[in-house]
Amino acid sequence: MTPLRKRVAVLISGRGSNMAALVEAARNPAFPGDVVLVLSDRADAAGLHFAADNGIATSAFPRKAYASKAEHEAAFVAAIEDARIDVICLAGFMRLLSPGFTERFAGRMINIHPSLLPKFPGLDTHARAIAAGEERHGCTVHFVTAEMDAGPVIAQADVPVLPGDTAEALSARVLVEEHKLYPRALAAVLLAETEARL
Ligand code: GRF
Repeated sequence: MTPLRKRVAVLISGRGSNMAALVEAARNPAFPGDVVLVLSDRADAAGLHFAADNGIATSAFPRKAYASKAEHEAAFVAAIEDARIDVICLAGFMRLLSPGFTERFAGRMINIHPSLLPKFPGLDTHARAIAAGEERHGCTVHFVTAEMDAGPVIAQADVPVLPGDTAEALSARVLVEEHKLYPRALAAVLLAETEARL
């Protein structure tokens, strides 16, 4: 029988505030999954402490410990498969994944990006939205495909760009929405996974 609560891994490179939001949401018994694994490409990612303090298994695989990108990615794949992960969440994971990796987890790997995709893929999204004179900005949760920040959109949330906004102020306003959007989008993906397998 398929267990109703799905097993989620979160991949981070730094602060991990979105990962923490997912962990907090999954504390609710009604949430359809548990964050059981947090992986990072940086041993000093601050989010690893939060995860470990919350009893979640963590590992860090620094790129320089591996001879090639393929071997580096293989370490992530092994950890994900050993933990029998159903869905992977990228949350501030700052590495471009190979097509082999994205295809292996196609439909089961999602990302949060701080813009209203397809606007502003890539970095410095908040400064770019201000420079472009956007009236609204926000965040997107999408399925991960080989092309960066381009997979099918699952959900978006938006905020106003205010007169005199700085990238920092806008980023903070968007982050509040990210922390609400990501758990909602993950729950929807987990429920769809469960239904597909029943
Ligand atoms: C977030 O803005 C997320 O949208 C982007 O990177 C940032 C990560 O922040 N992909 P955190 O590590 O989740 O705090």
